Amino acid sequence: MTIASGRQQVSSADGRGASAATPAQTAEPSLRYNRADWASGFRNVGQELSNVALKANKGTIPADLKGTLYRNGPGRLERGGHWVHHPFDGDGMITALRFEAGGLNLTNRFVRTEGWLAEEKAGKPLYRGVFGTQKPGGLLANAFDVRLKNIANTHVVRLGDQLLALWEASSPHALDPETLDTKGISLLDGVLKAGEAFSAHPRFDPGHHGEERMVTFGVKSGPRSTIRLMEFAVADDPVSGVKAGQLLCERSDSFGGFAFLHDFAITPNWAVFLQNAIAFNPLPFLLGQKGAAQCLASKPGGQAQFWLIPRDSGAYAGQPPRIVPAPEGFVFHHLNAWEEASDAPEGSNNPQEAAAPATPAPIVVESIFYADFPSIGPDTDFRTIDFDLIPEGLLERCRIDLATGTVGTERLSERCCEFAMVNPRREGLSCRYGWMAVAERETGNDPLQAIKKLDLVSCERRVWSAAPRGFVSEPVMVPRSMPVGSPEPAEDDGWVLCMVWNGARCASDLVILDAASMEELAVVELPLAIPYGLHGSFVEG
Ligand code: CO
Repeated sequence: MTIASGRQQVSSADGRGASAATPAQTAEPSLRYNRADWASGFRNVGQELSNVALKANKGTIPADLKGTLYRNGPGRLERGGHWVHHPFDGDGMITALRFEAGGLNLTNRFVRTEGWLAEEKAGKPLYRGVFGTQKPGGLLANAFDVRLKNIANTHVVRLGDQLLALWEASSPHALDPETLDTKGISLLDGVLKAGEAFSAHPRFDPGHHGEERMVTFGVKSGPRSTIRLMEFAVADDPVSGVKAGQLLCERSDSFGGFAFLHDFAITPNWAVFLQNAIAFNPLPFLLGQKGAAQCLASKPGGQAQFWLIPRDSGAYAGQPPRIVPAPEGFVFHHLNAWEEASDAPEGSNNPQEAAAPATPAPIVVESIFYADFPSIGPDTDFRTIDFDLIPEGLLERCRIDLATGTVGTERLSERCCEFAMVNPRREGLSCRYGWMAVAERETGNDPLQAIKKLDLVSCERRVWSAAPRGFVSEPVMVPRSMPVGSPEPAEDDGWVLCMVWNGARCASDLVILDAASMEELAVVELPLAIPYGLHGSFVEG
């Protein structure tokens, strides 16, 4: 593994790609990566380990990195010889990596969902998957079976004393944060109805309204779609008596049209949703021909929209949502959002301190745009997909002017990316830096093989690459913890943690990078082979 210096890759001011080609940019696909290495990352996790102590195989684990990295992702892709049609249909498997005093230990467990338990016993798939996995037995076995298998595979977050494994179409599963044992479905002390949709993309408000909060949503889709926006306390407050995990506020808003909302973004005053121009035709799903997600398609001539919902504690609380036309393209994930007027010095960004202006300040949203909805059709094996035929994700910045109802768009990079985040202490504020998984070459679609730190002002970047034999997953930026009373550390002071599929070893590595320089600090070879994961989070302590 090598460190590529960002200095060779300074982009022009408009964010267009670099002019000087490096070998990686021009190499044939076979030199950037080996397809068999990439495909070897799709497999079943064969073991569940408990508290296995690990050492760095290269470098040193930073002694001041303290806490637990939780990761979620599909851990079972085949059962009884039947493969999932899409890896997103695989059963959720949680990995916990605990850092303490320069040491590390690992625990991993499948989430004991109802479907996982039943299929383990049966030794074959008993449910259809949202992304096209069919039960054995052809159309007759699948038609009109619309049961959802809650596979708990998308994200894992800590809320109070519970660890929640999330899957957006249904309830969270609660796990023990230490042992990862499944406690069962959680309705969050009666906040949720049984089976109610609950997003797998909560956003953690670092304290724009005094205390840290988990802001999240559930969406009920139909000809009209309803978003339920919820804000939860993440810590006990001895003064108010509020307990961690308690619902602080909520609101519900209905919008015209079928909503496909995987992610959202928050600012101090707004919850920002991008409603893709997409249509859902349920017929092939009902008839057993396609998975529900395969029935989504771009709506010809459709208009995407930003749905901006005022947060209950913000300056526009109680006001109706604002709807603004959004640019063409399809978005799964956002990097961050902020309000231009709230870009104030530290400590003076509490919107409640100032009277709300009649016209809210422009809202800026940075998102990963695809030219079209990427889908794997019923007849395609996901391990043989042609990357050149699938649109790549590109980071774009939209500035929403609420006074005029217009949106200006600017592309921040031409490099294929996914899984982007800012320093979690600056979520909802203007940020200088983002960290994201990117392809090895500067343009075009390829598997994700590198981690990029992007300067969102100058578009300069630094890249750490796992190519040619490594494949990255979502990078998690962990800011350095400072003693109470010490000055705020620099925005990029901390680490980036990333699970890498090591094609040479056919197993997973944990890579620890310095978040500022993107230097590789440590590589830990895990005694596990974990397929490409989805989301995860770091819990300090
Ligand atoms: Co996601």
